[in-house]
Amino acid sequence: MGVYTVSSVENLRICVVMVGLPARGKSFISQKIVRYLSWLSIKAKCFNVGSYRRQIGAAHPSADFFDFKNEEAFRIRENAVTQAVEDMMKWYEDDNGVVGILDATNTTRSRRDWILKLCRENAIEPMFLESWCDDQEMILRNISDVKTCSPDYEGVDPEKATSDFLQRIGKYEKVYQPLDLDHDKNLTFVKLVNVAQEVIVNQIQTYLESRIVFYVMNLHIRPRFIWLSRHGESIYNVEKKIGGDSSLSPRGMQYAAKLPELVRESAGDADLTVWTSTLCRTQQSAQYLPYKQLQWKALDELDAGVCDGMTYEEIEEKYPEDFKARDEDKYEYRYPGGESYRDVVIRLEPIIMELERQENILIVTHQAVLRCIYAYFMNVPQEESPWMSIPLHTLIRLEPRAYGTEVKRIKANIPAVSTYKEKGTSQLGESVNDATKYRNLLTGEGGN
Ligand code: SIN
Repeated sequence: MGVYTVSSVENLRICVVMVGLPARGKSFISQKIVRYLSWLSIKAKCFNVGSYRRQIGAAHPSADFFDFKNEEAFRIRENAVTQAVEDMMKWYEDDNGVVGILDATNTTRSRRDWILKLCRENAIEPMFLESWCDDQEMILRNISDVKTCSPDYEGVDPEKATSDFLQRIGKYEKVYQPLDLDHDKNLTFVKLVNVAQEVIVNQIQTYLESRIVFYVMNLHIRPRFIWLSRHGESIYNVEKKIGGDSSLSPRGMQYAAKLPELVRESAGDADLTVWTSTLCRTQQSAQYLPYKQLQWKALDELDAGVCDGMTYEEIEEKYPEDFKARDEDKYEYRYPGGESYRDVVIRLEPIIMELERQENILIVTHQAVLRCIYAYFMNVPQEESPWMSIPLHTLIRLEPRAYGTEVKRIKANIPAVSTYKEKGTSQLGESVNDATKYRNLLTGEGGN
């Protein structure tokens, strides 16, 4: 389980209490933290108070509902946050939750004091995370996302939705008490000013909290795309062998020649940076791309250890127990002398951190590595991620948005072998049903 079990061994439980006006990216940040921690096998869950409020009857409230003098609405809102916190407490107990995130505005000190008391009574470390923002462009972008994606404004004319949402923000502004280094000097908190333009960190207590701080410091919410591609078909792919460092096949070379056109059609004139692994099939695939290129050892394919260079049929014959064990738990299985998917995730962490910092990156790498990167952006559960279909000769474009990640797949229309191995067989190729299942997953609108 690597280094991360330390938190569960110590029975550490953290509640990240979001703070900030509407349209400050709180839900975006909350969901990113959940995805990052889950990807690292740390049990994390977000409790969004707006969803609870919608469930208890206030599905499409107008701005007046958020007026703090509106007593009836205030009661409903208190009810919503109470239910969210109760569910979170239950989750810590029943599911051994480690990091719960209370995604709400929590703009008043009285609300924060109430949460603080509950956390202390339940041996949970409270960590306040405020998103404070006066960058109008960023706020307008968030408002635009809310009016198009929030269930509160489903079916509402966009102009009306914008004007109502601005009024809603105004209601919160009247009572907002930001975190303050004098008043809140004894609290554990992080205050992000205009996302990560300035970061104020106070009284961080644990290693896990410091990991969360480091992660959010690297986030940005400027619009951007990430392109992913496997290398072109390789000689080893054609020979059904895994691992190795073989060159591209003639069809793989065709893909390399076509890749610049595919990327240009998708990225226009954007100035990309290309990341490849240190293996020659990714570098050959990227050789015609007219952008700056960087090689990362961390992007090398999962190391198949003693099975490197073998076909699955040979592995089944020579190492039948290993072959079976891998099918049974593909995420945890480590090839003798090689790696597991979990090992790959751990070595990819700096890549994810750097990806969060950057804009417009194209990654040309390998099947298992792409599954891990894809799983991070799309919140794919661990047990599913090693079974996802990421075909050759296909460019994938990811667009991280406030409410999830959008995916577009661009096929090169250059034939290639399938390197997909289903559970329980050593033969390659996807059955129609599974192919459809994973294709839906890959093209799903919005990550979660
Ligand atoms: C909401 O009801 O949308 C959020 C409640 C809040 O945190 O103010």
